[in-house]
Amino acid sequence: MRPDGRYTLIRPVFFVGFMGAGKTSVARRLARNLGLSSVDADTLLSRRLGVAAGEYIRQYGESAFRVEEARLLGELATWDPAFISCGGGVIATPANVELLRAQMVVYLEVSADEARRRIADVSSRPLFGNIVQARALAAARAPLYEQVASVRVQTVGKPVPVLAREVQDILEREGVLCQQPKSS
Ligand code: S3P
Repeated sequence: MRPDGRYTLIRPVFFVGFMGAGKTSVARRLARNLGLSSVDADTLLSRRLGVAAGEYIRQYGESAFRVEEARLLGELATWDPAFISCGGGVIATPANVELLRAQMVVYLEVSADEARRRIADVSSRPLFGNIVQARALAAARAPLYEQVASVRVQTVGKPVPVLAREVQDILEREGVLCQQPKSS
């Protein structure tokens, strides 16, 4: 689908939510639909660290990963506006919560049980653990996601294109995403 006109993002849009919420897929889909850019923080981080996020956590521990993640988030906030998908634990670092509270943040909501159904290979997410641990982690994180959220979007039963459209409508309403009509 080609955009009807040129879209502009006025400020960066950060996607947060538990593992499996669809942050990367929705950010990517929006960018593709609108002819804009998306950045996946974990992918960028993995490139910099030389290993996947999960592998880095396994080798060096969660705290070491959080330091690198926070450094990258600080950088991303200064880049040209884009759709930025964050790792699910970005809100575990208090400085990130502070930063995100001042940004446009879309919270994609998903339960741990639904996330487990969506994630094909949980071994790539060492912090997911078993379902009991994942439920506890999701419950502990929920208030932090809520704290940073500018908007909350429930994801259950909604395919990625539907979610992308829903977020697009919200961002246009909020004046974060603008469309310049074609002149011809
Ligand atoms: C994490 C989520 C992962 C990744 C890392 C830690 C977490 O990203 O950053 O494994 O603590 O929730 P996704 O949310 O994209 O799976």
